[in-house]
Amino acid sequence: MISHEQYLKLVETLNQHACHYYDENSPVISDAEYDLQYRQLEVFEAALPLMTHPESPTKRVGGAISRGLVPFVHSARLPSLGNVFNDEELTQFYDRIQKDITDTDIEFTVEPKIDGLAVALHYQKGKLVAGATRGDGLTGENVTANLRTIKSLPQQLTQEVDIEVRGEVYMRRSVFETMKTEYANPRNTAAGAIRQLDPQVTASRQLDIWVYQGIYPGILTHFEMMAFLRELGFPIAADISIAKGIEDISIKCHEVFTHKSTYDWEIDGAVIKVNRFGYQEELGFTAKAPRWAMAYKFASETATTKLKDIIVQVGRTGVLTPVAILEPVKVSGVMVHRATLHNLDEIERKGIKIGDDVLIRRAGEVIPEVIVSVNSSEDHLEFKMPTHCPVCGTAVQQIEGEVGVKCPNRRGCAAQLKGAILHLAGRKAMDIEGLGDKLVDQLVDLGHVKSLSDIYRLDFETLSSLDRMAEKSAKNMLAAIEKSKTQSLARFIFALGIPFIGERTAAILASHFGSMETLMAATFEELLSLREVGDKIAAMLLETMADANFMQEVAYFIELGVIPQHLQTEPIDGPLSGRRFLITGTLSSMSRSVAEKRIVELGGVIAPGVSATLTDLVVGDSPGSKVAKVEKLNAKRDEASRIRILDDAAFSKLIG
Ligand code: IVH
Repeated sequence: MISHEQYLKLVETLNQHACHYYDENSPVISDAEYDLQYRQLEVFEAALPLMTHPESPTKRVGGAISRGLVPFVHSARLPSLGNVFNDEELTQFYDRIQKDITDTDIEFTVEPKIDGLAVALHYQKGKLVAGATRGDGLTGENVTANLRTIKSLPQQLTQEVDIEVRGEVYMRRSVFETMKTEYANPRNTAAGAIRQLDPQVTASRQLDIWVYQGIYPGILTHFEMMAFLRELGFPIAADISIAKGIEDISIKCHEVFTHKSTYDWEIDGAVIKVNRFGYQEELGFTAKAPRWAMAYKFASETATTKLKDIIVQVGRTGVLTPVAILEPVKVSGVMVHRATLHNLDEIERKGIKIGDDVLIRRAGEVIPEVIVSVNSSEDHLEFKMPTHCPVCGTAVQQIEGEVGVKCPNRRGCAAQLKGAILHLAGRKAMDIEGLGDKLVDQLVDLGHVKSLSDIYRLDFETLSSLDRMAEKSAKNMLAAIEKSKTQSLARFIFALGIPFIGERTAAILASHFGSMETLMAATFEELLSLREVGDKIAAMLLETMADANFMQEVAYFIELGVIPQHLQTEPIDGPLSGRRFLITGTLSSMSRSVAEKRIVELGGVIAPGVSATLTDLVVGDSPGSKVAKVEKLNAKRDEASRIRILDDAAFSKLIG
């Protein structure tokens, strides 16, 4: 058998060969030679499994290596956090929890929110075995080799435990200042560094990490978990504190805020968490974030600048939005040129006039907004909302029940058409790569596209005649359009841009109705029977289906070869995302098909049978052999990674 040193060398060379083979399509050794060396690896790993290198080619499927970073499926979804921006919103969060949990004395923890990049780290017997970026929450990228370059991250824990921890990779401000990078701030530099293909480049960026979550059985509170993680050798935020009652929570958050500038790392707020894991479980998750935690973001990411002008934009749904054109100013590392003013009421309420100095805020990923005028004058110009659409000239209308106005010329307004096309082509809709605003502007302005379905009528001649469209880009564009024809039904429904039909509702409609024809024949009652569909959505769907122009468009799409794939399901973003369910036996409260539909609507997946990837087994009356199979699998696992066994009552509670 080969030595450990030879083994490591072989891992490296075989990975390189795999790269030549899969990535560059130019193998440098024969298949037989590769197989021989591969077998040597297998022999070594079979004899010494603990020495298996996480990047060994035996751990990888075929060409997964080809795109550099390898996907990593998380053990459970990495959620993001909801945001509050002031004490009033914080109180609403607190009141909501008090309403759901009967304990009058609930403990919370307050800790800094580090502005970096979320990662999940897996340890086996105390050794770091894998680490991945958050990605879309369900699947990230395996960046183990890069994470190993972080000096503050222990490779070996003080106890031989199997544990998963989550944390934030960041770059110290002092390091960022000495570093000339192409990035605007430490956060982006850290994110760029962790996704490098070459760990040596990552190492040169001198990253750090804080750990803020641990998944390990037998610990009852977040505070105790943090102490345990510290004991294991992880760096955790030093100033985590316990708070009780809204005043205390607010004070502790503001304490974090006041310390902001004293830290050598960027923080963008405080995180408030319900301390007791039992309560966390009771509160559960919304589609995107835990109900038991909240980020209190600084409202202080503000700057003052001059308001040069106010223009009016017309969105895809025709709503007119006033937009502030600003003297460019840097807010938390990003140059801001424009900010939203929402609507006329807001402008008047905030006393904003053109020429004023205004305070602007940029909070997280939210579009910057103008908060208030700080220096106005009598002779500054008052803004008036146009009475006619600035794009098509149609008289605007008040939006029923709202303060804004909209252009009613849905089909004839170029701005609305452009918005609708960009929505249709968007990454979450038909995903037509390269169909961006510059191209859409030309297509609409030159009259090549007059309705949504015209996108599928575009030909090579038209595309190649456009500005900045060489022969190759025109061909690529046509290929991207062609490819989009077989997107899933859920994406197609979403792409149509029906008011109120977001991604999630579209996926639910697709999974329930299964085809465009069945959806179009749905009755009000049938629509309402879906839990996520209320009066407003059902009425809008029926109104849309009764619109002859809309139906004509749908017919054109199909005629032009857009065939939404009914069987191809889109994962629904929901509280059960990342979980795989199997039902055995008869449920008393509902039929199996209803139960399965509900699981899918909430983001879960129905597993074909008992396997290692199953997360939940729902057990009804007279269950089959599946229970025994799951128990057998569970016997080999620690508590945290066991497959959950839910009875009828627990399952009903879970699906609400
Ligand atoms: S807890 C389920 N605690 O902020 C709870 N997150 O905006 C998961 N973050 O995705 C998050 N500091 O990457 C938590 N002390 C902290 C944090 C923190 C930074 C990041 C984290 C999360 C993002 C949400």
